[in-house]
Amino acid sequence: MNGDVRVFDTPHELSRGAADLFAHLARRAQEEHGMFRVALSGGSTPRALYERLAASPRSVDWERVQVFFSDERFVPPDSDQSNYHLAYSTLLSRVPIPERFIHRVATVDIPPEDAASLYAQGIRRVFEVPEDVLPRFDLVLLGLGPDGHTASLFPGTEALMVTDRLVAPNFVPQMDSWRITFTYPLINAARTVTFLVEGAGKAAILHRVLEGDGALPAARVRPTEGALLWVADRAALRISEPGIGS
Ligand code: 6PG
Repeated sequence: MNGDVRVFDTPHELSRGAADLFAHLARRAQEEHGMFRVALSGGSTPRALYERLAASPRSVDWERVQVFFSDERFVPPDSDQSNYHLAYSTLLSRVPIPERFIHRVATVDIPPEDAASLYAQGIRRVFEVPEDVLPRFDLVLLGLGPDGHTASLFPGTEALMVTDRLVAPNFVPQMDSWRITFTYPLINAARTVTFLVEGAGKAAILHRVLEGDGALPAARVRPTEGALLWVADRAALRISEPGIGS
């Protein structure tokens, strides 16, 4: 199996456990090099985590946190489909993080290709690394889609093959829409990659990913030197399909 699994009995416990992990990694990074550089995930699962972090703003030294997004839908920042909008409305607008430390993907009046290049430049600027050095995020937070996608690395899409860029534009035919996504090299360079997975609806796909089904993009996340953590509730880790593991 790829990575360590941390199980929580309920969604409530899961969000508390994920918040504790986030705060722990932030403290560790800030002690080690003065700043916590994190990429937040999108979708709906992290909402409870963000709300919990916002409810205890002193659990993290937000003055020393740089926030990026591991992927973004190509929609305006005030769209309810925006991953930035989710994080800003539930968390970032409620904690004392300096605005200049919130790094949103440019998604308005810019071609996807340019948005990806611009985002990668922004990442390099914060990490102060040259072109030939991979930035190492202290934490990349990811979700798991029902088809085994993660970030915006969807099955059968071109970004899966990108190995020479930090961030890629990715047209997703399944959604007939453009996305901007971290690539495998950037994700796998992280010190910690954490998947946050909740609910019985993800049990079957999570089982396949944990078994290492290489057809699934999430199963190809393998940090080069860093830690891989699966943080899930009991429902997501139960194998619901009859005949598998029963
Ligand atoms: C996105 C996400 C995506 C998400 C999964 C899980 O932009 O949609 O980054 O990778 O994490 O689709 O989404 P849910 O949490 O809504 O199940």
